[in-house]
Amino acid sequence: MAIQYNKEQNVFRLDTKGTTYMIGVTKEGYIGHIYYGKRLQKAYGNYLLRTEEPPFTPAVRKREKSAFLDCFPTEYPTGGIGDYRESCLDVRDESGSIGCELFFQDYKIQKGKPRLVGLPASFGTEEEVETLEILCKDAVLDLQVTISYSVFEANDIITRNIKIENTGKQKLRLEKVYSACIDMDNRNFEMMTLTGSWARERHIQRGSLHYGKQLVSSIKGASSHQEHPFLALVTGNTTQETGEVFAMHFVYSGNFIAQAELSQFDQVRMVMGIHERDFCWNLGQGEIFQAPEVVMTYSMQGLGTMTRNFHDFYRNHLIRSQYKYKKRPVLINNWEATYFDFNSEKLLDIAREAKKDGIEMLVMDDGWFGKRNWDDSSLGDWTVNEEKITSGLPDLVEKVKEIGLDFGIWFEPEMISPDSNLYRSHKDWAIQIPGREATQSREQYVLDLSRPEVREYAYQCIASILHSAPISYVKWDMNRQLSDVGSTYLDKESQGELMHRYMLGVYEMQERLITEFPDLLLENCAGGGARFDPGMLYYSPQIWCSDNTDAIERLRIQEGTAMLYPLSTMGAHISDCPNHIVGRTTEFATRGHVALAGTFGYELDITKISAQDREQIKGQVELCHKYQELIQKGDYYRIASWDSYKPFDAWEVAAKDGSEVLLTYVQVLAVPNAHSTVLRLHGLDALAEYSLEGTEISYLGEELMNCGFLIPAQPGDFKSSLYHFIRK
Ligand code: GLA
Repeated sequence: MAIQYNKEQNVFRLDTKGTTYMIGVTKEGYIGHIYYGKRLQKAYGNYLLRTEEPPFTPAVRKREKSAFLDCFPTEYPTGGIGDYRESCLDVRDESGSIGCELFFQDYKIQKGKPRLVGLPASFGTEEEVETLEILCKDAVLDLQVTISYSVFEANDIITRNIKIENTGKQKLRLEKVYSACIDMDNRNFEMMTLTGSWARERHIQRGSLHYGKQLVSSIKGASSHQEHPFLALVTGNTTQETGEVFAMHFVYSGNFIAQAELSQFDQVRMVMGIHERDFCWNLGQGEIFQAPEVVMTYSMQGLGTMTRNFHDFYRNHLIRSQYKYKKRPVLINNWEATYFDFNSEKLLDIAREAKKDGIEMLVMDDGWFGKRNWDDSSLGDWTVNEEKITSGLPDLVEKVKEIGLDFGIWFEPEMISPDSNLYRSHKDWAIQIPGREATQSREQYVLDLSRPEVREYAYQCIASILHSAPISYVKWDMNRQLSDVGSTYLDKESQGELMHRYMLGVYEMQERLITEFPDLLLENCAGGGARFDPGMLYYSPQIWCSDNTDAIERLRIQEGTAMLYPLSTMGAHISDCPNHIVGRTTEFATRGHVALAGTFGYELDITKISAQDREQIKGQVELCHKYQELIQKGDYYRIASWDSYKPFDAWEVAAKDGSEVLLTYVQVLAVPNAHSTVLRLHGLDALAEYSLEGTEISYLGEELMNCGFLIPAQPGDFKSSLYHFIRK
């Protein structure tokens, strides 16, 4: 049993194969955090709640109630009653005051995991997951809060979510609802986050904790290029293989906050949830608010274990698409090849040439609809531009299929251009504050997806195109963030609901899309990687990592992304050089090796690239076929990091049964007077012999794992090599 309750101690113990999480209830009914860490066998002690030491619990010494609340390690802190650390729940009542105090009422343990209505969330069978629901109540507000924990024993993962129900008669306003909190003593923690910008998303950042609050957040209406809904606290000197890691990751794609707060008593409060800025939710009588899910993992074997816990969990319990373990098509996308300047003939030329080299799908990117010859018009007018697609879309798709390629298409369904028929007839469909000219970004506004008829319109635009021709793939883009957050649809009390309602609208549309078109391969994208998050993975098995396709810049982006996400989810393509964003020239082979660590494809004009590059494509496509299954299903190990000041980057994918390992090495900058480099591998059978493909050499697994493999010194920058070890 993964979840047990000890009545005498009033303690819940949640066990995964390697971790234990303990929750205790005080005599008064406060719900406290006891422990998260290495798996315990028998313990049920609640002494870590420290109710026997000053300031004591209110039942013992009421005059120090605030002092108690301000240091009690709580499972779900509420605002307004004397805990001055970050609260997770702020409720305003009809009198206008904020105050909420939760006491334990009851609990429920069940096999399986209930769905979260309207939200992306992990899932599992009754054999794979057990759920504990702790019901608490604020009697004054007549408010019921359910704190849920789902325990995925085999994955060392516990997920959490919060459900709030107004069981009383007052109209309540939720002004802040976070989804999870862990209160624990500081262990000289460092904080790890992912941070970045457009074209340099998800770089790893690490620094020591200081007193006060440290946070990452987004208020942009998307998880964003700049920050990522992830937070880990790691003990000092944590490496890939050693040290303790407490990690939280948010299954949500909109505004978020992830924060660590070091308090006066050296306690750390780690919280995650929807950002309270631009958020409030009216909760009338009998109404329920469901907050999104947080995924937690603990590792005492460093970051590598955290990574593999997330990878296995997302592959098996979050991504629903039939493609998660299926072969993905090697695609060629015309964006960097043509931008807006293309027509049917150009696309067919690309398709014909691509076919010769074994490429399997043509993706027609932005510019095929309305009058869109630049990025300044037509979003919302999803009718095919027959000046470019001269014989119509069904005919183009048919011709591409005759050539032997599948067809994919780009949409940006959440947007509206001021220069569009849609805007001319429905100005009120754009997100805007009445009386104020809305801010443009990329010359576009955002559609108000809280409005049902807008969702219906936007959805039908996509669906009718997909019904018109056999289209196998959709790239769903979102190229600006939200501003001027107002809706002409919502009443004035509900304006604070817009940001979250917008996200619920996106989720509803994507759910509808994959339900109506179950064979569709959906790739999410947001100006590159501004919405690469677990929420989107629930709908699409792959997400475009970044508009930056430079192989060297991609090392950092893909290292940060792969710290949490399986390689099979990372959209990665080979593009032309000098690279369009950084102007760097790298070898074609290196670009191929880096893209192999993702979904793999091309983003270039195959009819124009040099013969020397062109000649390599066939071989690269073969490599993709050869390794795709290993890369999709294997265990990922980060071996060296260019980002952490080494002159090279290296990662490995090992088959789960130890039968093969693929090692990728990228020498970023050559070092003068260099020796060969030793890299230690992982995940092999210690006593089995492995041959290195393409050579006569073999090694014992224990040699490769402990003594290491020698990468020969070589001159030249931006060089890379693949090494494939096969068990004999
Ligand atoms: C975004 C995407 C690109 C491309 C363009 C088209 O920037 O990330 O891949 O689709 O939009 O406008």
